[in-house]
Amino acid sequence: MVTVKVPATSANLGPGFDTLGLALDLFLTVEAVAAPVTSCVFSGEGEKQLNKNTGSNLILAGLQRIYQEAGQPLPGLKLSVNNQIPMGRGLGSSAAAIIAGLSLGNHLLGGCFNNQRLIHLAAELEGHADNAVAAIAGGLITVLKYGGEIYYQKTPLPENISVIIAVPDFELPTHEARRILPATLELGDAVINMQKTCLLLAGLFNNDLTYMNIAMDDQIFQPLRKQYIPGFDQVLDEARKAGAAGAALSGAGPSIIALARDHSPAIGQAMQETFQNHDVSCQILYLKINHTGVQIL
Ligand code: HSE
Repeated sequence: MVTVKVPATSANLGPGFDTLGLALDLFLTVEAVAAPVTSCVFSGEGEKQLNKNTGSNLILAGLQRIYQEAGQPLPGLKLSVNNQIPMGRGLGSSAAAIIAGLSLGNHLLGGCFNNQRLIHLAAELEGHADNAVAAIAGGLITVLKYGGEIYYQKTPLPENISVIIAVPDFELPTHEARRILPATLELGDAVINMQKTCLLLAGLFNNDLTYMNIAMDDQIFQPLRKQYIPGFDQVLDEARKAGAAGAALSGAGPSIIALARDHSPAIGQAMQETFQNHDVSCQILYLKINHTGVQIL
């Protein structure tokens, strides 16, 4: 039996659109054993919807892609999947599924592809690389897709950073949240987002959260995406008032991520109550950063 464990991820952290990714200690776990025919059984988040159509899912898509890359037929596998990652909520559930399939396949193929190749294949399947790189490498990553290549660095992070996430009870498909974005940007806006992204990275690197509040305050993508998220501005405001160092949309949303020094219940409560005031029920996740990335157990 082989087990692969892939972390959830939160992309962007506000201004770092398609650039920053943070791995979290919430996992998709897949156990695989050889079997005459391939099958998948899901438990956890989205189990009903996933068990309805087990013949086509992103874990299998990742597996099929890597066997195709190796020029070998996919063997029969019985897959038992436990998913802790809320789906369609901006927490990297699709990247995790793709990486699970690719990493599992790579392991079964004798590890013939390196991480760089896995990242390429994942980005090709997903369209962007921030979640995929964070899920593979763990921690906080910064990624660059340039000239057909994908470059990334994993940046050091202080131990004492806590993550609080409000997960609304509705899905926001990433393709819809990307469809509304502009094709071009004003120079001034692009400069401000570069400045904020660098301020954010340097603040985390220096373990100094003083400016996290403004560094995470993206003014390009969030103002467009918040139309789908009732109470978005107020949830961010209340999280900060309750002690969050900074807060932003998690990936394409609708979840909201807050960074803080500790798992203060006041921050989660403030986010939950504010969403409730806008008729949105949500669950609150108190998470730590995952530093290892995907693991074969
Ligand atoms: N960077 C991507 C976006 C993440 O914001 O659309 C999607 O999960």
